[in-house]
Amino acid sequence: MPKVAEQIVPVVLGERSYDIVLQPGLLATVGDRIRGFTTSPKIGVVTDRHVASHYLQGTLRSLRKAGYDPTPIILSPGEPTKTLATISKILDTLAKHKFERQSLLLALGGGVVGDITGFAAAIYQRGIPFVQVPTTLVAQVDSSVGGKTGVDHRLGKNLIGAFYQPRAVLIDPLTLRTLPRREWIAGLAEVIKYGIIADEEFFSFLEHEIPALLKLKEAPVTHVIKRSCEIKAQVVAADERESDHRRILNYGHTIGHALESLGGYRGLIHGEAVGVGLVQEADLARHMGLCGDEVVERIGSLVQRAGLSEQVRETSFKSIWSAMQHDKKVIGGQVIGVWPVRIGEVVIRPIEQQVCAEWFHAKHGRGSRLASGRQSAKGSARRKSSTRR
Ligand SMILES: NC(=O)c1ccc[n+]([C@@H]2O[C@H](COP(=O)([O-])OP(=O)(O)OC[C@H]3O[C@@H](n4cnc5c(N)ncnc54)[C@H](O)[C@@H]3O)[C@@H](O)[C@H]2O)c1
Ligand SMILES: [Zn+2]
Repeated sequence: MPKVAEQIVPVVLGERSYDIVLQPGLLATVGDRIRGFTTSPKIGVVTDRHVASHYLQGTLRSLRKAGYDPTPIILSPGEPTKTLATISKILDTLAKHKFERQSLLLALGGGVVGDITGFAAAIYQRGIPFVQVPTTLVAQVDSSVGGKTGVDHRLGKNLIGAFYQPRAVLIDPLTLRTLPRREWIAGLAEVIKYGIIADEEFFSFLEHEIPALLKLKEAPVTHVIKRSCEIKAQVVAADERESDHRRILNYGHTIGHALESLGGYRGLIHGEAVGVGLVQEADLARHMGLCGDEVVERIGSLVQRAGLSEQVRETSFKSIWSAMQHDKKVIGGQVIGVWPVRIGEVVIRPIEQQVCAEWFHAKHGRGSRLASGRQSAKGSARRKSSTRR
């Protein structure tokens, strides 16, 4: 018997509604769980080499046992794969194997695989069903929920894409056991974000359980994924296409994206940059008179205890402001930020250059640079990372 019972989080989007199903060990039952989403035996299992080495055979076994005829499509791991060229290759495979309108794509992997698979499903024969089986923390709490799919363009990340909802999101938290530690910790930044934007009780839970989470204890890990999905699902249900309310999900991402882009996407991975953003944007909110010391201190302390940095790379005000300008959260030259007023509640407000400059210089001294903090994140594995989510 599994120790943790199956959990279901509904995502309510009218006729595009679906369930997020969460259970340790779920992967072995994927075949049975996709019944009802397709009448065709053909299933395209899109994954990457790393994930395939751990989970592809088990997934294929489960699909075959349930009577399906799966075709694996194995991609190179990492952000550089998120291109139209990859989409084209997937479409070639689907056409070659005579996939029909009812055939289903399964995205088995992290956010890269999920974004690619969702987009391929959205455009093959004007849309075929797809199911997300996310295997990174980022994908389980963020990218697999909400319907944003797409690929990068040479001139910008996530520049090409579509809103396309999966038929289900099937989460097996046990897959996180093989995830590189750095990826796990980066995902915790998005989890902490949910506490700040929507749920003080959840934030307190994280403060209490962070040691157990760092040890990957099954019960708190499952709770964290479930609560994060609930919060994201609620926000997305209220605002599917990101007009206003959905912006609250961008908390920590204005400065986070700026740091990521200043590092040329080769230094910090996305969640690490967001970790810095969570702390620095709270500090900026305090400077704007929107929140008190306690908010900044609690966020800083939790981020640090999670193993994330509060400040990472050196930068000048000019370059960080200019990087913030290039983010999609800019409207009419003003940067639209998300600011905590207390833990569990944020407001959306534009910020002017003058105010941001005052904050920066008060913190670091005029002419100074945002000091470098933790060194480990700087020099380690280099890869492009996610952005503009
Ligand atoms: N659609 C959205 O709303 C949304 C939201 C956030 C991020 N994203 C996108 O998600 C992507 C980042 O996703 P990610 O952080 O999951 O990165 P990723 O998909 O690149 O996965 C990270 C690494 O972990 C490996 N991996 C995945 N699962 C594993 C497992 N269980 N065991 C061992 N290794 C495993 C992968 O092969 C890869 O090397 C970016 O492209 C970003 O734009 C999309
Ligand atoms: Zn993010």
